[in-house]
Order: sequence, then C-alpha cells, then structure tokens
Amino acid sequence: MTKINKGKLFGIGVGPGDSELLTLKAVKILNEIPVICSPRSAPNKESIALSIVNPIIKKRKDFKELTVLEPVFPMIEDPLSLEKHWDDASELIAKSLNKGLNVAFITLGDPSIYSTFSYVQKRLEDSYLIEVIPGITSFAACASSIKKPLVEKDDVLIIIPKIKENLEILMENSDTIALMKTSRNKKELENKINHQIREKEIFSVENCTMENEKIIKGFPENKPYLSTTIIKFKK
Ligand SMILES: C[S@@+](CC[C@H](N)C(=O)[O-])C[C@H]1O[C@@H](n2cnc3c(N)ncnc32)[C@H](O)[C@@H]1O
Repeated sequence: MTKINKGKLFGIGVGPGDSELLTLKAVKILNEIPVICSPRSAPNKESIALSIVNPIIKKRKDFKELTVLEPVFPMIEDPLSLEKHWDDASELIAKSLNKGLNVAFITLGDPSIYSTFSYVQKRLEDSYLIEVIPGITSFAACASSIKKPLVEKDDVLIIIPKIKENLEILMENSDTIALMKTSRNKKELENKINHQIREKEIFSVENCTMENEKIIKGFPENKPYLSTTIIKFKK
C-alpha cells in the first residue's frame, strides 16, 4: 500500500510530567502539527499527556483550529475488549492521515516503554509513514528526583511491570529494579522484595517531576497511578 500523499504519524514521548522536560523536537512538532491524538483512560478523565503539552499548544496562534482526538483506552485487562479499543483508535487516526494530515500521538514518558502508542503503531505502520520521538522515561526521571544513579559500571538494570513467577531469579540477577505500574502491585510483591536476602535501598516516587511529586523511602502507601519504585541492591 502506498504511503505517498498520506499524513505522517508521529509517536511523541512527552516525558514524565514537567512540560519543561519535553524535547525541543517534540515542541517543534507540537507547534506545527494539525492533529493531536491523546488517549484518555475514561471519557470523563483528562489525559495526562495532554495536560503536559497544554502549555505549549495553547500558545499556538491557530490553537482553535487544532484538532484533538481523544480515544478512550480503558485500563482493563480483557484482551478482546482492548483490541477493539485499539482498532477504533487506529481507525480514527487513519481518517486524518488519509486526508494528508500529520498526526502527533502523544504519550507519557517514552513511546517505547509500556506505551499505548505501540498498539496503534503496529496497526498503522504498514500503511503510513511513522516517526518516533523519544521522551524522558519515568524511571530515569525518578532516579533524578531521588538523586541516585540507576546503574554504574557493569550493573544490571531490570524493569518489572508487575509480579512475575520468576521474580526471585530476577532479583538475584540484577543490581537495580525499576518497578513500574506500582499502583497495581499488591503487598505480596512488596513482601517478596523486602524478604529478599540481599541488602537494598528502596525509594518510590509519586507524580515524579509534577507539582505534587512525593518521594518515599520504601513502597508508597496510597499508590497513585503515577508511582514508580526503584530498588537498589547493595554489593
Ligand atoms: C503505562 S506506563 C507508561 C510508561 C511511560 N511510557 C514511561 O516511559 O515512563 C505507566 C507507568 O509509568 C510510571 N510513570 C509514568 N509517569 C510517572 C511519573 N510522573 N511518576 C512516577 N511514575 C510514573 C508509573 O509506574 C505508571 O504506572
């Protein structure tokens, strides 16, 4: 299928929260693009990615002409229902691309790390030109907030999204763990990590780089959606 005469899809990482952490490249595209796609988790919930780019796009002289697509990507686990939401979102984006309009799909952190962009990318990459703009990922931002290096020398960093049967093996073979999607993790996971025999330091960051950022020694109590835990094993 030809990609000529069609719009280009940009997958833009908007960083962890502070709008000043957007890349110059992301800002340049956001200042020129005619269509922004910013998924939200529920019809009545504001998209976090959109709130990060708002200070940029609201300054555009043509802000009123800007089209903002807000498909719903619910936080559910049912695979069939999820597929349907991703199909619908891809079709919505394709409508603009078919008109020759470029579209910026904005996504929290970096587009290559547990991002909704990847589902749309897979559906559209055969038919449309795609460019991915990296963003500062949450765990790198968390390391800056706690002022600790993630890894040094030949240290191994592991990213864990939720409890896995092989957690023990992962803990034995890594120096640092970035534990993401912390809000979904149960006490069981925390107990397993706490009881791991190796000496360790545990820090959690809620709403990293945002006005309400909170740094906690250990695991977070309330577990807001934007929380990440960094576990550093001592040598
Ligand atoms: C669906 S993943 C998206 C990750 C994102 N693409 C990235 O590069 O960081 C959402 C998870 O990222 C982490 N996260 C994203 N932004 C964060 C922030 N500002 N503070 C703390 N954790 C954050 C949390 O663990 C959250 O549950």
